[in-house]
Amino acid sequence: MINKQVTDKYYLKIVAGIIGQELGLHYPNNRLQELLRGLERTSELFQGKYSTISIIEEIIKAKSIPQYLYSQLSTALTINETYFFRETPAIDLFKTVIISEIKKSGGNYKIWSAGCSSGEEPFTLAIIIKEMLPAHIAKNIKIIATDISSKALNKAKEGVYTEWSFRETPQNIKNKYFKAVDSRWLISEEIKEMVSFSHLNLISENFPSPSMGIDNLNLIFCRNVLMYFSIDSIKVVINKFHNSLCEGGWLITSQVELNNELFSNFGKINVFNGFFYIKEEIVHSSKNIKEERAYMIKESPRNYIKSRTSKKIIDKKPATTPKKPTLNAAKALANRGDYEKALDILEELSNNDGEYHIRLEPESNYSGTGVGLSTVKRIIEKHNGEIWAESAPSDGTTFFFTLQ
Ligand SMILES: C[S@@+](CC[C@H](N)C(=O)[O-])C[C@H]1O[C@@H](n2cnc3c(N)ncnc32)[C@H](O)[C@@H]1O
Repeated sequence: MINKQVTDKYYLKIVAGIIGQELGLHYPNNRLQELLRGLERTSELFQGKYSTISIIEEIIKAKSIPQYLYSQLSTALTINETYFFRETPAIDLFKTVIISEIKKSGGNYKIWSAGCSSGEEPFTLAIIIKEMLPAHIAKNIKIIATDISSKALNKAKEGVYTEWSFRETPQNIKNKYFKAVDSRWLISEEIKEMVSFSHLNLISENFPSPSMGIDNLNLIFCRNVLMYFSIDSIKVVINKFHNSLCEGGWLITSQVELNNELFSNFGKINVFNGFFYIKEEIVHSSKNIKEERAYMIKESPRNYIKSRTSKKIIDKKPATTPKKPTLNAAKALANRGDYEKALDILEELSNNDGEYHIRLEPESNYSGTGVGLSTVKRIIEKHNGEIWAESAPSDGTTFFFTLQ
């Protein structure tokens, strides 16, 4: 029996250490009162069967979270705040680049919503898929959703939501995929069955886990979860995420969780006013972004976005009337050997009609489909309106452009 007043900081610190190790949740000294309130909520969930003091004692005695406390404790300590269509940058990325990628894969695509809370996040992805992809592709896609909180998972499986979850949801989507039940909203069966929910503690469980389908993933959404973890726990989880992704796979955090140091083994992409991680060679941002529209900035010469997406989808610029001079004028200039002027026109065209996306300057930058930016090392050959260029840093990649 602990003699001292168990709610003392001394004991709370010990409990905080154990909770940090087993659940990842970080309770530094200035958050110990918050922890105490969480322990009180745990006691309430047991309807008084275990007092707050006995819960603290049991954890300290066992030097671990006893199994019988685990579920209620993780439910009481976690913050499950979430809503549909949360954070525009990630939703825009998904609707465009990722949907296009899924389409190309024929639906052979695995998505994990890690820390899915009551399901709004994975259901948002399922709704977008349903809206944007044909059924024969959608049916092949796997959406796995996990959380540590049994209460949140039960709510997700039930699929019933209050108005609060719809603060960013377009009205037509709400009407189409939800049915009013009293003052709440029940998600449609067709969306519900696209997501499989299960319990997973990101800290204590090992992944990749082929038995759970958590391996070789194309996309991980883990937003507003890592922010509650200690730095050490974040590092462990990020490493496991990295190992669970396929090459080129995405890791989407919330924009407030970005951190160059912690995610240094990922590449970083700047697109749709947000930054997203990718399991690839390091991608650096650049000051050369001229517009806020979707640009992927990459030091590597590979025209990455071009290979990942269709330009029609990514290029969201409004169509405007192309200004004079025209493509023909650029072609004529190129034919005369005046490549610099031709390229100026091309750049202007690419800025205006979204169709001619080549910007190319010797020793400077080019943007491939309007969404890529890379550095051109040298122009290899220019004739009859055709341009061959080698990109930098040199990996032997060459680009071919034509003004035809
Ligand atoms: C604020 S919610 C975020 C929900 C959703 N990802 C979003 O951004 O809207 C954080 C979720 O992380 C879960 N969580 C916290 N610690 C966890 C852990 N160690 N393992 C798995 N999930 C955890 C919580 O239960 C909670 O549902």
